[in-house]
Amino acid sequence: MLNEKLNVSILDFGAVGDEKGLLTICEGEQDIPFIPKRVFYIYKSAADAVRGKHANKVTDFVLINVSGHSKVKIMDGKGNEIVYSLNRPNTGIYIPHMVWKEMYDFSADSVLLCLASEHYDPEEYIRDYDEFLEEVKKRDPYENKRTEG
Ligand code: TYD
Repeated sequence: MLNEKLNVSILDFGAVGDEKGLLTICEGEQDIPFIPKRVFYIYKSAADAVRGKHANKVTDFVLINVSGHSKVKIMDGKGNEIVYSLNRPNTGIYIPHMVWKEMYDFSADSVLLCLASEHYDPEEYIRDYDEFLEEVKKRDPYENKRTEG
């Protein structure tokens, strides 16, 4: 576990191969915690672009920079945050639902592969940070009370 509070973890898929080249395998419910219903990839991102900037109410993700590198910042809306460098094609980061994520510092050759646990539904995307904080509070009133004193 990379960060207990954020429930974010680094997944090492390893690689098989020889002098001919390498192959990395990512099996649903084995190498990652879910069977992906959706795959998309982010590429040709401007070096100064910040992508993502949203939280998902139900979808979990695994991000893998299969080419190049980028960074991802993850925030739980309760004061915990982590920045992870995605820079290896055989390493992924598991990002659970209900965390805020921002991807940035993309190299020109960055191809960021995203495996999603759910089909696309714009309704489950929270794109406003204040709305995200409200949703966090709503889901964890006990945590809210503790932090307020
Ligand atoms: P968005 O989530 O804003 O990605 P980014 O921050 O990387 O630019 O998505 C960009 C657009 O693509 C937005 O109009 C929604 C659409 N989209 C889909 O239709 N399906 C998907 O699976 C994803 C991830 C995005």
